[in-house]
Amino acid sequence: MQITTSTHFPADFVWGTATAAYQIEGAVAEDGRAPSIWDTNCLKPGFIKNNDSGERACDHYHRYKEDVAIMRSLHLNAYRFSLSWSRILPDGEGGLNPKGVDFYDRLIDELLANGITPWVTCYHWDLPQALEDKYGGWKSKEVSKRLGDFAQRVAELYSDRVKNWITTNEIHVFTMGQPLQIVHNALLGHGHALAGLRAGAKQPLNAGFAEALWSEHPVYDTPEHIAAASRAFKYSNARITFPIFEGKYSDEYFEQYKENLPETTDEEMKVIGTPVDFAGYNIYSGSVVRAADNARGYEVIDFPASYPKNQLGWNIAPRSIYSLIKHSQDHFGDVPVYITENGMTANDKEQRNGEVLDIDRIEFLREHLAHVQRAHADGLPIKGYFHWSFMDNFEWMEGFSARFGLVRTNYRTMERTVKLSGKYYAEVIKAGRVL
Ligand code: NOJ
Repeated sequence: MQITTSTHFPADFVWGTATAAYQIEGAVAEDGRAPSIWDTNCLKPGFIKNNDSGERACDHYHRYKEDVAIMRSLHLNAYRFSLSWSRILPDGEGGLNPKGVDFYDRLIDELLANGITPWVTCYHWDLPQALEDKYGGWKSKEVSKRLGDFAQRVAELYSDRVKNWITTNEIHVFTMGQPLQIVHNALLGHGHALAGLRAGAKQPLNAGFAEALWSEHPVYDTPEHIAAASRAFKYSNARITFPIFEGKYSDEYFEQYKENLPETTDEEMKVIGTPVDFAGYNIYSGSVVRAADNARGYEVIDFPASYPKNQLGWNIAPRSIYSLIKHSQDHFGDVPVYITENGMTANDKEQRNGEVLDIDRIEFLREHLAHVQRAHADGLPIKGYFHWSFMDNFEWMEGFSARFGLVRTNYRTMERTVKLSGKYYAEVIKAGRVL
């Protein structure tokens, strides 16, 4: 059978998985690492489901070589991970911790030796506790500047080998429910980090952000519903992504937020709007809209209770990933797009022989990848896909109860087992098309 190339991903497509330091590393009090706000959160009784903590997590700090070997066996050509800020700079500023620096040196070298390109996130939520104590965390613009300094230092340390950098992960989520000033300060942190990375760079970098966008998809693809979805995108992403691309808060922002607006300066908006080399989008769900005869020109249709969901009750909406890439081009032009996270938590069950036959996750992957491929075939600037996550790990408030991995982590023995979805993903990468 002749297979046309339009069903294929391009040969240089980035195929990865993603993780974050606090969710996998463990070794929280080892080799000079100081606590982050997440170590503190985990000490609050009842804060995390089952009072789990990232103290040991997946013990990746000691098992990174085994983990990289598994990545290689899955044919991954990229791996997105984050730096534990308080492992590198225990006080969040000031002196480096040589052993912490060394851990990432070894991890990066191990990845490169295995043909896997590192994609490094500077800030994935684990603010050094010292900065929380000294400045009140993201309430202070000092912290935004400290992130810039940290980014510069890690670029000086690692950018001889690391070209791909992500400033912040999901400002939308780590500032959720917080005043708009905090969102603004975090955006500023992104801008300073971008400048810091470039100031410390040892080679031309590929630097961007990873943001949780909300993506509405049209109830069906007719011009009026497609246009409605595109309008909705401007409202739901007005707080974070639009200011990054436009260097200003939009009309849709001021229409939605009228009180407690952040204090800003023109200079700060310029920092926030510093051009990125790529956009990284994390997407797990979405919503369905249709055109409507109202002021905004669209309405969101509620998901019926019987709509497919993941284990945490998040609606599974694969067409949103296509719409997201499309909306990105509509509104932000041809900036290269990477899906920096996408995945699902499932009721994984180990078979007697240790296998995990997670056909729900396979279906999730297949559907989402088909829409990513469609985006590529339509000429949209999609360049890569990172599945969340490489392995089951510490899912923040959900502790270890929510498993997102392509690889199962046995938290008692720390044994890793590639799930059927991991094998499927490896075959897709090898074939370069959705199977
Ligand atoms: C978003 C976050 O970046 C990541 O840390 C989290 O585990 C996944 N989504 C799943 O909730």
